[in-house]
Amino acid sequence: MRVSTRSNVDPFIVMDVMEAARRAEAEGRHIIHMEVGQPGTGAPKAATRALAQAMDDGPLGYTVALGLPALRQRIAKMYGDWHGIDLDPNRVVVTSGSSGGFILAFTALFDSGDRVGVGAPGYPSYRQILHALGLMPVDLQTSSANRLQPSAGDFANSDLQGLLFASPANPSGTMLDTSAMTKLIEGAQAQGASVISDEIYHGIEYEAKAVTALSITDDCYVINSFSKYFSMTGWRIGWMVVPEDHVRVVERIAQNMFICAPHASQVAALAAMDATDELEANMDVYRTNRALMLDGLPKAGFAKFAPPDGAFYVYADVSDFTKDSRSFAADILSEAGVAVTPGLDFDPVRGHKNLRFSYARSSQDITEGLARLQAFMVRRGFA
Ligand SMILES: Cc1ncc(COP(=O)(O)O)c(C=O)c1O
Repeated sequence: MRVSTRSNVDPFIVMDVMEAARRAEAEGRHIIHMEVGQPGTGAPKAATRALAQAMDDGPLGYTVALGLPALRQRIAKMYGDWHGIDLDPNRVVVTSGSSGGFILAFTALFDSGDRVGVGAPGYPSYRQILHALGLMPVDLQTSSANRLQPSAGDFANSDLQGLLFASPANPSGTMLDTSAMTKLIEGAQAQGASVISDEIYHGIEYEAKAVTALSITDDCYVINSFSKYFSMTGWRIGWMVVPEDHVRVVERIAQNMFICAPHASQVAALAAMDATDELEANMDVYRTNRALMLDGLPKAGFAKFAPPDGAFYVYADVSDFTKDSRSFAADILSEAGVAVTPGLDFDPVRGHKNLRFSYARSSQDITEGLARLQAFMVRRGFA
């Protein structure tokens, strides 16, 4: 049987690294995981308690397509608490992770062949999901001067129908301030492109609060998730905020594509939103880990990176040591027992010069990982 051309998407290299790390562990090796972009912690205890109660109380059937009304209201309230924005809960759509949000957003906003700008380096699945939906991802090569975030000049003559950006970003952890985000949005809107802001790393910020696109315009889609700050990756639960006149459009697509986001995860997510103490304790760990990385990576010879404003990644330029980040990452895994992600996942053109280090795990793991990286680099004569 033939397969479609749009199914011809690239593998997610970090998943291949995870598999190589798993094989090494199965052979009895101890691996430090700096490849995965997920918290080492589980869902907040209040979330699992609420779910246990709900399971005792009755069946967890389908919910309405847009999500449990109480959860939509609680998410809207969060925009008031975090950003001082009075958000209508009717504009909130609960999704199966932000990944489900992308599928809904791209389907609602674009027609086959439409061109959507994404920053490179950027989260790899943007490109692959767009391709799989018959859309055309347009890589915008970002510059170090703009701290690897796209700027309006990068797409001035690109004839885009959409622009997608993330702040804080994966893999760089850098953020757009209000002025930079405003210029991006204005640049996109000037060429009639729909704006999608991926805000999945909001809440994981270090020196300044992340800006939401909703503070600049209502004419955009905002995508967010319970995977990162709320530490609920495997629960596959997230949300979007869409313009009022798009709610019914998205609702009809969601009804048909997903019916609803998992009911159990919606119950847990609602309770997670009030688990502030536990979530802030996770933040303390990320803060400690970030400081360890900012100190330890340069000591190990990895000195070329922009300090992350948010998320839990450092994206380092390793071109002084290799022309092939994939084989360099494989050497680090086999010789140092540290799993890291080659930049090719995030930037097919320039990523052979970069590695992404994740510091989402325990501080003990980060300390050990940095020591192993330093020993590896000393053995290679690079530190
Ligand atoms: C920038 C970014 N957006 C979206 C996702 C997808 O997250 P999820 O589908 O778990 O919400 C990720 C996952 O790492 C990410 O880094």
